[in-house]
Amino acid sequence: MKRFAVLISGRGSNLEAMLLARARGGLFADPVLVISNKSDAPGLAVAQRHGIPTEIVLWSDRESAEQRCLELLHRQSADFIVLAGFMKVLTGGFIDAYCHRILNIHPALLPSFPGVHAQRQALKYGARVTGCTTHFVDAGIDTGPIILQKAVPVLPDDTEETLSARILACEHELVVESVNLFAADCLMIDGDRRVRIDGEKFKRFRAECPARERTVPT
Ligand code: GAR
Repeated sequence: MKRFAVLISGRGSNLEAMLLARARGGLFADPVLVISNKSDAPGLAVAQRHGIPTEIVLWSDRESAEQRCLELLHRQSADFIVLAGFMKVLTGGFIDAYCHRILNIHPALLPSFPGVHAQRQALKYGARVTGCTTHFVDAGIDTGPIILQKAVPVLPDDTEETLSARILACEHELVVESVNLFAADCLMIDGDRRVRIDGEKFKRFRAECPARERTVPT
């Protein structure tokens, strides 16, 4: 079973979606560490409720913050990383250390609306369809190879809040599916950036994965 760390900056609902899936036996990788760049991120309590160790790494100096994160990740033997609402940009050395092993979830259909306030950008632009994307992290902002995407219609009366809430529900599914595909070694980057998914291999992996009975924490 692959081990992974989750980097967060805020509420941690994507983190919670993964931890609830794990509790149901529906996540085929072990979350071993949650790192937040904010000491008051509500997601820290989510991790603690599920018994996952947490660390706070403040980003006052980017280089030393990334170095500290790498130390923590190595100490926990993390095989890969999920950025779940992590609002800092990671740079060269860090990305190289986990090349094609960092997954990010973004609340838009990339390459549209990268960066911050993606839902606001979609509304302002007048898009009729937006959604969410999981992708591997590269040196750009939300530019890495796309893993999965899900479309969400923009409704006439949508506000940033209502649209964000519908997108978030889709993010929760996508992030779990993406972690599982990665954990099963079913994602291959073809050429520069097309990600191939080996669906047959995934079916075999899932069938062989021991069902882990766990109680869902309340
Ligand atoms: C999510 O919508 C996620 O896609 C977004 O922040 C939110 C975090 O929610 N991430 C980005 O915008 C990154 N560019 P969560 O803390 O409840 O998972």
